[in-house]
Amino acid sequence: MLTSSLEADWWRQAVVYQIYPRSFADANGDGIGDLKGITSRVDYLSELGVDAVWLSPFYPSALKDGGYDVADYRNVDPRIGTLDDFDEMMAALNKAGIKVIVDIVPNHTSNDHEWFKEALAAGKGSAARERYIFMDGKGPNKDQPPTDWESVFGGPAWSPSGQNDGQWYYHWFDSSQPDFNWNNEDVKADFLKTFRFWGDRGVSGFRIDVAHGCAKDMSGELPSYKELAEMTAKKLSNGNADLIHPIYDRDEVQDIYKTWRKIFNEYSPPLIAVAECWVAADRKHLYASPDTLGQAFSFDILLDQFDAAAYRKTIDFQLEGLKESGSSSTWVLSNHDVIRHATRYSLDMPVAESSDLQAHIPIYNMHLASGFTQPKTDPARGLRCARAATMMILGLPGSTYLYQGEELGLPEVANIPAAERQDPNFFRTEGRIIGRDGCRVPLPWNEKGIHHGFGEGKEPHLPMPEWWGKHAVDTALDRPDSTLNLYRRAMALRKDLQCGEALEWLDSPAEVLHYRRPNGWEVVLNAGESDYIIPEGRTVVLSSGVAVTDRVPPETTVWLTPSPSV
Ligand code: GLC
Repeated sequence: MLTSSLEADWWRQAVVYQIYPRSFADANGDGIGDLKGITSRVDYLSELGVDAVWLSPFYPSALKDGGYDVADYRNVDPRIGTLDDFDEMMAALNKAGIKVIVDIVPNHTSNDHEWFKEALAAGKGSAARERYIFMDGKGPNKDQPPTDWESVFGGPAWSPSGQNDGQWYYHWFDSSQPDFNWNNEDVKADFLKTFRFWGDRGVSGFRIDVAHGCAKDMSGELPSYKELAEMTAKKLSNGNADLIHPIYDRDEVQDIYKTWRKIFNEYSPPLIAVAECWVAADRKHLYASPDTLGQAFSFDILLDQFDAAAYRKTIDFQLEGLKESGSSSTWVLSNHDVIRHATRYSLDMPVAESSDLQAHIPIYNMHLASGFTQPKTDPARGLRCARAATMMILGLPGSTYLYQGEELGLPEVANIPAAERQDPNFFRTEGRIIGRDGCRVPLPWNEKGIHHGFGEGKEPHLPMPEWWGKHAVDTALDRPDSTLNLYRRAMALRKDLQCGEALEWLDSPAEVLHYRRPNGWEVVLNAGESDYIIPEGRTVVLSSGVAVTDRVPPETTVWLTPSPSV
């Protein structure tokens, strides 16, 4: 069947809403969000006006890393539902015109995956061990790890096989997440099967976890951790495209994605894929090419402060970088790995502090404990800036990825007791990094009532603070100036705005961003301290702050249309 280019390009300027299933809606009352919960909230998503949802992992998992430790790629965690529930959810979402993207975690499995259990049992030198990265330990008794490398979450990156055979397995993340050996044919074939499995169930595409990491070469002499961290830092900066790293952003990772692309293109419209890749800007096009994954996340704007000049530089850089692949941009301010932007913009501290872990994945460091648990915050400013920044990115060409709860203006929950924390990042750094639980607290649907409408049974799997209800969906719907109503209005208007992918900057003071889209619509963000007077001939159709007609107050974004001529 032929697909029109319009249908095939649906993703280029889509609004994709990320659902973290365990924290969205709990229909069966076990304290964990589930697929039936999502199905029960399809109207909410439809009224919000999103084009697609991306579901973080809902597969069977011991939840050592919030589901990113997958025990079975082609099934649903029984606490979250069944494959029938998945089909029912898909049908309900599709009926409402909402597409579904699922998360694929190809870099590692859970240690509960049957292949890993088989690998441990089969012993050294077996074909089963070849699917993972096992190496002999160092020292006469092989009781020292093969290298001194640290994992992204802190602590050693190697763990003993536990079989008294002198072997260790590599895990870039938690010890419960052994890395695959992507030179192995079983691994390659199994993922093709997984893509077909979900493709045949009707998903529209995939978000690819840690896409920069699958290809590794551990065969030669391996560098020390210090050398590795230095190589990673270089690899993450432009102009080092030729640097070969043993585990990071290796060229041959694209060969894997080229084989996936062939499968994606068997579907009509072709399945999409978006890479979570932490790579230098001059490498991103490799992941976003139409021959490989097709689109790649950019987290650059998320790392910016609320600053017009910084935003403009990032936007220009991002749009320029896309020319090579022809892909469209992705704009992201929040996700399940970072401090929610309503809080980030309220922090009176630099969000990313320096440490050696930063060389791996800078965003995780946003959760450094220092300063964050007792931050100097100005929540009202945080929310004002968050609303303004979101309205600014929603006007840009490209697709916007929203994270559940940001439409409620939810802040990060900073003070989760240690005993209730779940993130391995917290445990593996002995609390030095407080981890990502604060952005994963279940959604408040109702101001009052049991668990704020998240579920009616057991306590939610992460505790809701006592002030959670004031951010609930029901009260937000009643308040015309709520963040939820702002998002809904913006999304409805945006359908007109996304008519082409060009962007033209208009003259403005340094602390103001002012751009125009091909249909004549304009977006103005004021990050300065005084009002910006709107030039003549425009009508305000949306304001992220108070209602205005002729000016843009500080920390506000407005959308403008050309005024009808009189
Ligand atoms: C990605 C995910 C993160 C997870 C990690 C390991 O960065 O977004 O949540 O912990 O991969 O799978």
